[in-house]
Amino acid sequence: MDAFRITGGKVLSGEVAVSGAKNAALPILAAALLTPEPCHFERVPELTDVGTTLRLLAELGVAVERDGDRVTLAASSVRTVQAPYDLVKTMRASILVLGPLLARFGEARVSLPGGCAIGARPIDLHLQGLAHMGAEVAIEHGYVVARASRLKGCHHYLDFPTVTGTMNLIMAATLADGVTIIENAACEPEVEDLATFLNKCGARITGAGGDRVVVEGVTALKGASHAIIPDRIEAGTLMLAGAITKGDVTVTGACPAHLEALIQKLREAGARVDVDNDRIRTTVPDGLKALTVRTLPHPGFPTDLQAQMMALMTVAKGVSIITETVFESRFTHVAELCRMGADIRLEGQNAIVGGVRELSGAEVMATDLRASAGLVLAGLVAEGETWVRRIYHLDRGYERLERKLGGLGASVARVTAPL
Ligand code: EPZ
Repeated sequence: MDAFRITGGKVLSGEVAVSGAKNAALPILAAALLTPEPCHFERVPELTDVGTTLRLLAELGVAVERDGDRVTLAASSVRTVQAPYDLVKTMRASILVLGPLLARFGEARVSLPGGCAIGARPIDLHLQGLAHMGAEVAIEHGYVVARASRLKGCHHYLDFPTVTGTMNLIMAATLADGVTIIENAACEPEVEDLATFLNKCGARITGAGGDRVVVEGVTALKGASHAIIPDRIEAGTLMLAGAITKGDVTVTGACPAHLEALIQKLREAGARVDVDNDRIRTTVPDGLKALTVRTLPHPGFPTDLQAQMMALMTVAKGVSIITETVFESRFTHVAELCRMGADIRLEGQNAIVGGVRELSGAEVMATDLRASAGLVLAGLVAEGETWVRRIYHLDRGYERLERKLGGLGASVARVTAPL
């Protein structure tokens, strides 16, 4: 089982390129199910979750070709509408095939994803929306079974701006009979990128990226080509890696407009953030000050950067308060950070983080994708050596992170650790 061995104390500097966004690639690859024609994608990140998605699509009968960050999919001979448990259990985002399969083939059987380290992660809002569009939805032997001769457009309000729920409903609505309006839709840039791709395929979607999305159903979609947007969470993670080491890091190929909340918070903490087109340079002229951070749906501060921001705050001056409002248990990194000497106390959904002079390297355990990123950042500044185990969590969402950090001067080695 792989681990990262990190020697702390290196000051990061230089330029690093951002890869394509995992959370845009996963729905957009699934959306290729909506058309029998070939779809060509660029800037598809080489991540475990992308590999799992491509394996799932191949299992359904989609023709898959991949060459580095280029992927071609053709769903001209889908042979089953069942997404099996053994694949779905490794990646919750497999639920993203539900909407496309149902819309194109009138039926879908997708294993219930089950919870994960950060929460129960139910999909009730996905199912409510599809039922509102006329689908018969049942849970049978651990599978979601959905059927509809043809979905019907409807005016649907989401109780929570669920990201993949919004994506599933948009994909389903593209082939529905009539107009679908989704109120309280997720506004994440990845939702907007999905709609951009679908409109290239002939869908008629307006308002994506905002909280009211309107989809006029069509009878069929054609193939299209699309380049995935940059990964704002990877970009933010790399910016925070520069900040925590008080270095001078420029991320390139980024989209600053997707990172407004982080940029403002970093400036509030005393960092200097210079934006120039697709380049974001982060430096820390003096020390870092404590912050109050509250995670919220986009455009609020992203929950996917909460652990990484907490790592930064463990060595800031003063007491920070970090409130997690999106997931019910996304503090699994706190105990591990405390083993590195961090001063963090949990009170419900609030983490009270007292800045300390220095963290100390330790053996820590990754529990989920973004928690492991937070531990890596802490290891960059901890005194001595930090081992982050179960780094497979990190590989789900970061493309060769050890090489990207190493290119900035960090001492991070991927090693095969004893079990
Ligand atoms: C997406 O997950 C992302 N994953 C997550 O990124 C991200 O953390 C999350 O959105 C929030 O931004 C992908 O896009 C593949 P939600 P998703 O549905 O869609 C509750 C990462 O690290 N909810 O917006 O699963 C849910 O329990 C991953 O890249 C319901 O109650 O998140 C949670 O508390 C982690 N019922 C909240 O809404 C539902 O039917 C947000 O969930 C759906 C969600």
